[in-house]
Amino acid sequence: MTIKQTLNRAKSQLQNSCERPQYEAELLLAYHLKKERIYLMTHEYEEVCDVEGFESLIERRANHEPYEYIVGEASFYDVHLMVEKGVLIPRPETEILIDLVADIISKEKICSIAEIGVGSGAISVVLARKFPTLHSIATDICDAPLRVAQQNIEKYKLQHQITLRKSNLMDEVSESIELVVSNPPYIADDFVLASNVAEYEPKEALFGGRVGDELLKQIILDVKAKGIGYLACEMGYDQKEPIEAFVKDVGVEYIKFYQDLAGFDRGFVIRFIKEQL
Ligand SMILES: C[S@@+](CC[C@H](N)C(=O)[O-])C[C@H]1O[C@@H](n2cnc3c(N)ncnc32)[C@H](O)[C@@H]1O
Repeated sequence: MTIKQTLNRAKSQLQNSCERPQYEAELLLAYHLKKERIYLMTHEYEEVCDVEGFESLIERRANHEPYEYIVGEASFYDVHLMVEKGVLIPRPETEILIDLVADIISKEKICSIAEIGVGSGAISVVLARKFPTLHSIATDICDAPLRVAQQNIEKYKLQHQITLRKSNLMDEVSESIELVVSNPPYIADDFVLASNVAEYEPKEALFGGRVGDELLKQIILDVKAKGIGYLACEMGYDQKEPIEAFVKDVGVEYIKFYQDLAGFDRGFVIRFIKEQL
C-alpha cells in the first residue's frame, strides 16, 4: 500500500475517535516511518513498510488512547517530554502557571522551590531551564512519575538543579524553600471524565478527593505551616469560591486567582503573611 492509500484508510478509521483524523493519521505515519510529516506529502506513491505495525498504532488511537502515550512523548512549553501510561500528559493550561511562577521567581530573586506532584517533570524542567541557578525539590507519591521525571531531567541535563523525592505532598521536604508550585489532583472522585482520560490517564493524578479540593486545601496548610512565602497552584474551574473562603480562615497577605485562555478560573497564587514567616 502507498503512503497516500495508507493515510486515506487511517483517516477513515480515526473518523470517530479524534477531532483531526487526517492530521493525526499523518502524525502517526510520520512517527511510524521515522520521517517528518512533510515527507508524506512529497512521497505519496512510496510503499509503506510494515503496514501491520502502523495499523496497530491506528487501532490504539481509534480506541481513544491518547496520541502522546502511543508515541511516548508530549510537547509542552519549549520541551518534548517522555510520557507513558501512569504519568499525566502535561496540559497546555499548566504553561500559564509556569509563567506566573517565573514572574515571581525573577521579581523576588528566588533560588529554591519545591514542586508537589512532579508527574512527567513538566513544571520543574521548564522552570529549571528558564532559571539555571534555581534549585527545585520535586515530590510525587507514585513511582512511575518519579521514574519518568528522572528520564526527562536527564534528557535536559538538569540533575544538578532538580532533586526528586518520593513523598506525600511535602512531608519529606525539610529544606528551606521560598516558593511551592503544584498542579495537584483536583477533580472530584465522582466526576465523569471523557473516556480517553478516564481509561488511560492515572487516577492518582486526577482525583483529589470526594469534593476535589481536599489536596489543594492540605497543600495550603502545609506550605503555611512550613513558613514558606509563596504558593502557586492550578485548580478546577469551579474551585475559586471554596478556596477563597478557606484562605480567609488561614490568614494570607493576598490570594490572586488567574484564568486560563478559555476564561475559566484555573488557579491561584498565595503570598503568606510576612509576620508569620
Ligand atoms: C495533575 S498531575 C500533575 C503532573 C505535572 N506536575 C503536570 O503538571 O503535568 C498530579 C501529580 O501529583 C501526584 N500526586 C497525587 N497525590 C499526591 C500526593 N499526596 N503527594 C505527592 N504527589 C501526589 C500524582 O501522582 C501526579 O503525578
